Amino acid sequence: MLLNAQDCAALDQTTSALADFAAWRSAFAPGPEGTLYFDANSIGPMPVDAPARMQHVLDAGWRQARRRGWSELDWLQQPASLGAAIAPLLGADAADVRVCDTTSINQYKLLCFALSRAAPRRVIVLEQDVFPSNRYVAEGIAKSGLAELRFIRHADELPAALAGQDVAVVALSHVDYRTSARHDMAALTRLAHDHGALALWDLSHSAGAVAIELKAAQADLAVGCGYKYLCGGPGAPAYLYVNAQLQGAHWPALAGWMGHADTFAFEPGYRPAPGPDRFLVGTPAVLANVAFSAAADIWRRVSPAALDARHRSLTDTLIQLLDEQCSPLGISLASPRSHAQRGGHVALQFDGAAPLSQAMVARGVVVSSRKPDALRFGVHPLTTTHADLWRAVQILRDLLDSGDWRDPRFNGPVI
Ligand SMILES: Cc1ncc(COP(=O)(O)O)c(C=O)c1O
Repeated sequence: MLLNAQDCAALDQTTSALADFAAWRSAFAPGPEGTLYFDANSIGPMPVDAPARMQHVLDAGWRQARRRGWSELDWLQQPASLGAAIAPLLGADAADVRVCDTTSINQYKLLCFALSRAAPRRVIVLEQDVFPSNRYVAEGIAKSGLAELRFIRHADELPAALAGQDVAVVALSHVDYRTSARHDMAALTRLAHDHGALALWDLSHSAGAVAIELKAAQADLAVGCGYKYLCGGPGAPAYLYVNAQLQGAHWPALAGWMGHADTFAFEPGYRPAPGPDRFLVGTPAVLANVAFSAAADIWRRVSPAALDARHRSLTDTLIQLLDEQCSPLGISLASPRSHAQRGGHVALQFDGAAPLSQAMVARGVVVSSRKPDALRFGVHPLTTTHADLWRAVQILRDLLDSGDWRDPRFNGPVI
């Protein structure tokens, strides 16, 4: 039996994943009537009280408290308190996560930390098709003479890459930004450890959508974006995780005053703060952190297992609808079929992915594309309904069927 609109509506009533979904959904501001958003892999939805929090920090913080904000408000505690709020989503202890800087910068900081920790080993293993910034960061480190790079195309090439016992760190994206294929974090971390290497994970396309078990997997290091599924807002600070067993050792590569053991002592020399605070560098981005705090207060209350179960129900349904209604029209699934092997988005493979995604946006379904041929549905488990999936798939089917996506107006540049 093919799924129909009533089945999707019924799934919204009956699914037990994430009880009281309506309340979670109402914690986020809706977009314009009729627009469906599938771009949580780029920018997640806005918590409904983010504007009020921003206004408050502008008035009570910037306008009135000014310098006293640093001592009277929570500005200096934000990197740790936001980190604690999202830690359960990462399967991490609250004390081991900090919100700060960007993912690229955190990647730099933790790669350098891994290199200093693993010396004299100096090889970084990374995926050839990783998100470009991760690769650029590693290339920059290699150019400055601190490391050598070794690329793999697939995880099955990892044993060979590790065989020489010279690898300092294996830096992998938990989820591929194009296909949404998810690595087995525990197995690959174990493999790295068996060869004396550390494992650094980029969680940008999994955190806030699917359950992650950093601690159980014994992962060493992790980074990820705050603005995607975590809903920290456009350009939100990123986060970093350092396994507690590694925290005491070695200086950070970017040693700044916020990572000093006694920031306001203004000592002439650097002394690293205990724990992950040493990976903080400069002044926290207070306004951005306040926007993030609106989402953090939602994350503090969410069960990661329930979030994962709802994401599974949604993306399994989406794949079934796409199979049934769109695959006969020449579009195919690029993501793995098993939820355990997928991240936050569902990707399709289609030669005209870029114009098709623009045509979808023009019809009110905000999806995205990535070169060469990926069409991506970033599914946010706290705001998406099964009925939304039905509507989106009808529009996709109609565009494919009619060929309307070929209109030249959909050929412009896209981000
Ligand atoms: C997997 C991945 N890593 C890193 C980044 C870059 O993050 P940032 O702009 O915070 O440096 C992105 C951005 O989309 C990404 O998707």
